[in-house]
Amino acid sequence: MGASALILAAGEGTRMRSRLPKVMHEILGVPMVRYVVEAARAAGCDPVVVVTGHGAEVVEAALPDVATVRQEVQLGTGHAVQCAQQAFEGFDGSLLVLSGDSPLISADTLRALVEEREAAGASAAVLTAVPDDPRGYGRIVRDDAGRLVQIVEERDAPEEIRAVREVNTGFYCFDAQTLFAHLHALDNANAQGEFYLTDVVDVFRREGLAVVTATARDAREAAGVNNRVQLAEAAKVLQRRINERHMLAGVTMNDPDLVWIGPSVTLGRDVTLAPMTFLLGETSVADGCVIGPDARVVDSVVGPDAVIDSSIVVESCVCEGASVGPRAYLRPGTVVRPNAKVGTSVEVKNSIIGEGSKVPHLSYIGDAEIGVGVNVGAGTITCNYDGRSKHKTVVEDGAFIGSDTMLVAPVRIGAGAITGAGSAITRDVPADALAVERAEQRIVEGWARRRREQDEEE
Ligand code: UD1
Ligand code: CA
Repeated sequence: MGASALILAAGEGTRMRSRLPKVMHEILGVPMVRYVVEAARAAGCDPVVVVTGHGAEVVEAALPDVATVRQEVQLGTGHAVQCAQQAFEGFDGSLLVLSGDSPLISADTLRALVEEREAAGASAAVLTAVPDDPRGYGRIVRDDAGRLVQIVEERDAPEEIRAVREVNTGFYCFDAQTLFAHLHALDNANAQGEFYLTDVVDVFRREGLAVVTATARDAREAAGVNNRVQLAEAAKVLQRRINERHMLAGVTMNDPDLVWIGPSVTLGRDVTLAPMTFLLGETSVADGCVIGPDARVVDSVVGPDAVIDSSIVVESCVCEGASVGPRAYLRPGTVVRPNAKVGTSVEVKNSIIGEGSKVPHLSYIGDAEIGVGVNVGAGTITCNYDGRSKHKTVVEDGAFIGSDTMLVAPVRIGAGAITGAGSAITRDVPADALAVERAEQRIVEGWARRRREQDEEE
C-alpha cells in the first residue's frame, strides 16, 4: 500500500483522572496505543511513528519496537503532527494520522481510508462516523452538495452544529507533504487555545485542495476513549470481538461476557472456558483444555486436554493431560509435565513436576525438580530459602514424600525412597531408603481418663 502512519499519543488525558498517560490505560492487558500501532501495521503502514509527550518515558517503554517523536508541550493535535514532520522528511504518499486513544479501529478500515484518498486524488480523506451518541466529538459540517466544509469541535460549536450527528473519528489520510506544508497556517483561536489538526480541513478548502470523507461501517470502531466509562465500553467491544472469533473457531464459552481473552492469545479447538476466566499476554492453549471457572492464565503454554480449575498460572507450562487446581498458584518457571497433577491450594514456583507425578494438597514447591511418578503428600513444603539465598530440592523418580514433610534445601531424595509423614528432611536420602525424622511416639495408659475424672471432681 505504501502508506505511513503517525499515531498521536502525547496528550495527558485529563478526563481519565489518572497518574498514567491516557494511552497507557490497558484493555485486556494491553495499552490502548498498542492496538492502534498493530492496526496500522496490519494495514501495511511503514513507517509507523508515535508522537509521545505527557508521560513519554512510560509510553516509549511500552513501545520498544516502535519509532517515536516527542511533543514536549502539548499544544494540540495539529501541533503534535508538526512535531513529527522530520520523521517523514522525503516521504511522498499517504500518511495516516491516527488517534492513540481509539483502540477499536481495524486494519480494513484504515486500508479503505487510504484507498478513498488515493482513488479520489484528494489531498485528504477524513474518516467520519455516525455514533448513537455524538457528544464529545468534533462535528462534520457539509455544504448543500454534501461536501465536507469544516470540522467543528463540540466546545466551539453553536447549538445547530452540535445537533449534527456525523462526527470526526480522529482518523485521517493525508498526502504527507501537502499536510506538512500547510500546518503553519493553523491558529489556536478556539475554546481550548490549541492548534487543532481538524482546522486543516478549512485550510485545505480555502486553498482549493480536495478533501473527501469515508464513513466507518461500524461506528464503534471509531470510539475514542477519553474517560474510564468509555474505557470500559471499549473493553466490552473488544472482548466481544475476540470471543466471537474464538467461538466461531471452536471454543466453548457458556457465558462469553465473563471470559476475557487478550488479543495475542491462541486457542485450539474444543477448548472450554468457564466464567471468570482470564487468558492474557502471550498465552497459548491447545485442543481440548478446560479452563475455569475462576482462572487466570498469563504468558503461559497449556498443552492438549489439560484442566485448570480456579487457579492462577503465570509464565508457566502446563503439559498435555495435566491438571491444576482448584486454587493452585503456578508462579513463573513452573513446568507441569504430562498427566501430572498440582492440586488444591498448592503453590509452585520455578519447578518441574515430572510426568504423572502428584502434588495434590496444600503444598509449597519452590526451586524443585520432581521426577516421574512421584507422590508428594499433603502439606509438604520445600524450604528453599534460608534467609540469604534460594536452594534446590530434587526428588527422583518414584519417590514417595509423606504428608507434611519439610524438605530443607539443598536436598535430594533418591529414586523410590520414602519419607515418613511429618519429617524435616535435612540430609540427602539414598534411593529406596526410608527417612523418618521425628520423636518416637509415647503412650501414657489411662492419662486421658484420669484427667476427665479430675475435672468431674472439681
Ligand atoms: C479529537 C478531535 C475530534 C474528534 C475526536 C475523535 C481535534 C482537535 N479533535 O478530539 O474532532 O472527534 O478526537 O476521538 O483533533 N494529542 C497529542 N498532542 C496534543 C493533543 C492531543 O498527541 O497536544 C493526542 C492525544 O493523546 C489523543 C489524540 O491526540 O490520543 C486526540 O486528542 P484528544 O485530546 O483526545 O482529542 P479529542 O478531544 O478527543
Ligand atoms: Ca480523544
